Amino acid sequence: MGESIRILVGTTTGNTQYVAEEAQYQLKQADFEAEILPMDDLDAGVFTGGGIFLVCVSTYGYGDVPANAKKLYESLVKDKPDLSAVRYGLISLGDSSHAQTFCFAGRRFDQILQKLGARRLGEVLNHDASSGVMPEEAASGWMQLWTPAAREVLAV
Ligand SMILES: Cc1cc2nc3c(=O)[nH]c(=O)nc-3n(C[C@H](O)[C@H](O)[C@H](O)COP(=O)(O)O)c2cc1C
Repeated sequence: MGESIRILVGTTTGNTQYVAEEAQYQLKQADFEAEILPMDDLDAGVFTGGGIFLVCVSTYGYGDVPANAKKLYESLVKDKPDLSAVRYGLISLGDSSHAQTFCFAGRRFDQILQKLGARRLGEVLNHDASSGVMPEEAASGWMQLWTPAAREVLAV
């Protein structure tokens, strides 16, 4: 049986869901178990017990997290759990036409997770909807680096 990775999805119009499905496909190909969890019903309790997470989130409004990610984000800010047993990767979707707030929702998650002691695995993928590259295509390339990094952590 493979090791389990939870993929958390914050989205408004679904692009991030496609990214999560691509990431799940690649993880399964690499013999991990990977579960996609929409953020809708989640709060900070999802991180209890630690583990490896892949946070996939887009930006809306004026640099805001999507509506379905609000409960989780606000619960992290309010409850301040100790996340020292959490390792996470981050895929952040945005559009550089929103120059002042490009990919801010991902940045918000990155900041709060680190503040609570979680450790990021790899660089953040900031996808730009104006780049002409499909987000799941960008994610596919990024996963080729992230997946071995996750394996290394699990091997330790
Ligand atoms: C009303 C609206 C507001 C947006 N605001 C931002 C923003 O502040 N910063 C940003 O980087 N992208 C912003 N975007 C771009 C989205 O994050 C981008 O299109 C993303 O791919 C959407 O992913 P999703 O379908 O998973 O929600 C906005 C898009 C819309 C339609």
